Amino acid sequence: MSRKLNRCYNIARLRERASKRLPAPMFHYIDGAAGDEWTMNRNTQAFDAYELVPRYLVDVSKIDLSTSVFGQPIDWPVFCSPTAMNRLFHHEGECAVARAAADEGTMYSLSSISTASIEEVAEVFEGPKLFQIYVFKDRGIDREFIRRCKDAGYAALALTVDVPTAGNRERDLDTGMTVPPRLTLMSLLDIAMHPRWVWNHLTKRPIELANVRDRVSNDLTTLSQFFSDQLDRSVTWDDAASMIDEWGGPFAIKGILSAADATRAAEIGASAVIISNHGGRQLDTAPAPIEVLKEVVDAVGDRCEVILEGGVRRGVHVMKALALGAKACSVGRPYLFGLAAGGEAGAKKALNILRTDLERDMTLVGCRNVNEIDSRVIRDVPVWPVSRR
Ligand code: FNR
Ligand code: LAC
Repeated sequence: MSRKLNRCYNIARLRERASKRLPAPMFHYIDGAAGDEWTMNRNTQAFDAYELVPRYLVDVSKIDLSTSVFGQPIDWPVFCSPTAMNRLFHHEGECAVARAAADEGTMYSLSSISTASIEEVAEVFEGPKLFQIYVFKDRGIDREFIRRCKDAGYAALALTVDVPTAGNRERDLDTGMTVPPRLTLMSLLDIAMHPRWVWNHLTKRPIELANVRDRVSNDLTTLSQFFSDQLDRSVTWDDAASMIDEWGGPFAIKGILSAADATRAAEIGASAVIISNHGGRQLDTAPAPIEVLKEVVDAVGDRCEVILEGGVRRGVHVMKALALGAKACSVGRPYLFGLAAGGEAGAKKALNILRTDLERDMTLVGCRNVNEIDSRVIRDVPVWPVSRR
């Protein structure tokens, strides 16, 4: 591992390194979110409403981080969220992240809008894999994806429900990372100032939306238009229920933010709910996942696995989520910053930072395994009286 990568001892440092390595349009596509980015910022800040209460004089000479999600054993309770078009951030893209997930003993999730196909990822990664799907206008695409996921041995499916239309990403308007892409002069100059990125993109396989390569021509304008045209605003719970039947295996609804929707998900047979606001990229001012976690766990925790996704940057965030009843957490930007900062080694570094951080925090709090991370180790931060002066 390069010395610079080695010096990134937290996710914030990986983000800084990613911002130097990536041309601005790609960096801001990862780093940005919708509207005022209130929700994105709140996703992480909202963890500060809780504090962890350590229990000492417990034998913590052995810490077991292992758990399971979707019926699949994983070495620690954090896995990779699905994210689009990873080869824009590093030429090895999704396959590099999947290999990193394998090395770090966790699950990998592949986005529908990926630059490596369902089959290519399955070839490099034997571990537990989840595929993220939408209900597309052309239901034939969904049927095809489901059949291919079954053939390639994917363990679970997650239906993303928070994209009835694209979020208002204003950083992307500034850079021109829009549908279709309209890169500004500043963006083009910035790209020119990243010769290593340009070289890799000129000399390696062209970027394509790999899962639909047989359906659409291979230029970015057509491809980005294809997916935005396929978003179906008329999708309802009935469509989700049909998809659960067609898949017939572990299934998550991704984008749950209320006990009411979590209950609907459980009623139609979802085996998991992913509490998520898409990393703040869709509805700005939507609540942070950690804020709704407890009510969702109270509503469906006995029937569904509850996954928390969004804003997780530290081991203590994972501990707080588990203490409030989450089965596991998943992360997007942390491994994308790692991927941009240093390819496979960088993505692995990101996961390893979170894993070692969590192990240390469990040791310090006195939790020997994930089952011991419960309501006894967490409490609300007391509110200080407002000063009268
Ligand atoms: C995403 N996310 C996402 N989700 C999804 O269901 N399908 C997708 O294709 C994508 N693409 C995508 C691209 C990028 C660049 C980012 C940052 C995110 C959302 C993702 O699965 C997850 O909800 C967030 O990344 C979680 O928040 P954090 O961990 O990034 O704070
Ligand atoms: C995003 C879409 C692709 O968040 O889900 O960029």
